[in-house]
Amino acid sequence: MTLGEIVRDYPHSGGVEVEIGCGNGHFIAEYAAHRLDTLLVGLEIKDKRCRKAREKAERHGLGNVVIVHESAEGFIRDIEAGTVDAFHLYFPDPWPKSRHRKRRFFAMDNLRWLHDGLRPGGRLWFATDYFDYYVQAKVLVLAHGGFRLADLAAPWEACTSIYSRRFAGSRIHFLAAVRRSADEPGGEVQHQEQVDRDREADQGC
Ligand SMILES: C[S@@+](CC[C@H](N)C(=O)[O-])C[C@H]1O[C@@H](n2cnc3c(N)ncnc32)[C@H](O)[C@@H]1O
Repeated sequence: MTLGEIVRDYPHSGGVEVEIGCGNGHFIAEYAAHRLDTLLVGLEIKDKRCRKAREKAERHGLGNVVIVHESAEGFIRDIEAGTVDAFHLYFPDPWPKSRHRKRRFFAMDNLRWLHDGLRPGGRLWFATDYFDYYVQAKVLVLAHGGFRLADLAAPWEACTSIYSRRFAGSRIHFLAAVRRSADEPGGEVQHQEQVDRDREADQGC
């Protein structure tokens, strides 16, 4: 199921936000309960966690939550440009061993897709208890150029997730980035594959 299909099938009057790696759904359910006009889509690769997240949303009567059992890497590639108001990425698997670092979700290729999926002014939220992962994310956001870092307080619901509570007492690093609009310096940055796609569409291929 693509985001476009979900948006079509779930009527909503507000924005569209996506959580990557929603786990058992603690954040998404709490967040959605306070934004009933917003459509919240949670992506999760573990079947059991998807089921728990769906049960949680149903228990709270949240018709604005959709949990998708799919890898985020594939899902974000199919998002129509400029259609998402926010991406939430809280406590992604840190892959602390250096030989595993390349498995981290926050990598330039994924970041490019997230950027293109966001509407100008849309937000990317990230939290980790791993300082080096935070530094990596910040460096990538700056290197990408299509975002500006924002000094925004993280949504309080981000502190209700299992992992957030597990790491209570440790230092948690939050990052908020805002997609620049096209008239801001760097605002025209676009994923090369998206550029190619647009070019092909223009040429009627
Ligand atoms: C460390 S847990 C954090 C869960 C939740 N965000 C929280 O704060 O409690 C990371 C979650 O991301 C999921 N995950 C890992 N890689 C993923 C991917 N490529 N696409 C979607 N979900 C993924 C894992 O199954 C796991 O539930």
